[in-house]
Amino acid sequence: MRHAPIPSSLFIENRNRLRALLPEKSLVIVNANDIPPTNADGSMIPVPNSDLFYLTGVAQEESILVICPDAHEEKHREMLFVRETNEQVTVWEGYKLTKPEAQQVSGIRRIHWLSEFPVLMRRLMCESDHVFLNSNEHARADIHVETKDARFARETMAAWPLHSYHRLARLMHELRPVKSAEEVALIKEACAITREGFDRVCKFVKPGVNETEVEAEFAHEFIRRRGRFAYNPIIASGANSNVLHYNDNCRPCKKGDLLLLDVGAAYANYNADMTRTIPVSGKFTPRQRDIYNSVLKVLRGCTDALKPGKLPKDWQKESEAMMEEELLKLKLITPKEVKEANKADPDKPALKKYFMHGVGHPLGLDVHDVATIGMPFGPGWVMTVEPGIYLPKEGFGVRLEDDILITANGNVNLMGDIPIEVKEIEALMKR
Ligand code: GLY
Ligand code: MN
Ligand code: MN
Repeated sequence: MRHAPIPSSLFIENRNRLRALLPEKSLVIVNANDIPPTNADGSMIPVPNSDLFYLTGVAQEESILVICPDAHEEKHREMLFVRETNEQVTVWEGYKLTKPEAQQVSGIRRIHWLSEFPVLMRRLMCESDHVFLNSNEHARADIHVETKDARFARETMAAWPLHSYHRLARLMHELRPVKSAEEVALIKEACAITREGFDRVCKFVKPGVNETEVEAEFAHEFIRRRGRFAYNPIIASGANSNVLHYNDNCRPCKKGDLLLLDVGAAYANYNADMTRTIPVSGKFTPRQRDIYNSVLKVLRGCTDALKPGKLPKDWQKESEAMMEEELLKLKLITPKEVKEANKADPDKPALKKYFMHGVGHPLGLDVHDVATIGMPFGPGWVMTVEPGIYLPKEGFGVRLEDDILITANGNVNLMGDIPIEVKEIEALMKR
């Protein structure tokens, strides 16, 4: 485990919150993710299952959590199954959790080896009516392989066709958007690591450096601080800054270019998601500065507009109204174009030519974190705010992105100490 230990109270409390949503005679089973293969005998670095981590703090492959609050035997009401290690596993793969360690991390008293799972599962299926299984229900997920979750649901439903099956995702999407103080502290640490990386990069960037080198500077800072990249970093100079998901990161940064950095660190599986756009030569041109300040104004406006009780879709609309106003001021669109576009298709307002993506998303154990569609913002949500203006004809785009905690008494910018004003950026780069 690369990160400092997390108090098991976080995971105990998360399981309590889940239990409170379950009907009588429920059985919840949560699996670790498969390790995705690459080519030949290669595999990717295991990615912890976010729901399993949320409920146990365990990231180890093949682990299974079982919650069965009404089980006849008290000892069956909460169990964690982990891989039993042996000499062979130790030699080839290294260290695995012992039972006392799994207990300590998760706060679960009953830890079993995986080999005991089939017998205990059979027993609990016989006692339960409602079975809650996991599925990826992120609206933008695009999955072409059968995941462990999908395979487990298929096999379980085939073996036990008469149970009443439910979507665990529906409950997790209700719980996970609301972050506890411990979770916010972990996201703050991810933001702090991101800030260190950005600071280092601002001192490093000058005409002639390659995007690869900039990525390496972030990696150096993130990894030595026990973090990692939260997602493939976007290090996009010049025209590349108009490519929303650019990640070739291999072009030389030229004098006069802007460099868009959409980079975040992850710490203890919690993510930061930052975007800053900086001038390669250390100083914005007047045109770059005007566009930059418009984006910054929309960022500030949208941050203030994040309020408990508001629907994400209404916030999106507000952000579009703010952006429209800026684009009109910049004369990138005209009132006539606005009117005509709205008449032709209200879903394609004129501003979308320059700002074509969403203004923000929930952030947490997943970078695009889960939340129930149609659920209003509430205290404890962490949202990104990330407006942008993209100008392919002028060879640059600007995006800025902060991570914002919503509370009952106003918002907290978790990236409030990462420089963003033109003056701050220019001063930082001068160093
Ligand atoms: N870096 C991914 C995003 O901003 O949503
Ligand atoms: Mn981002
Ligand atoms: Mn984002």
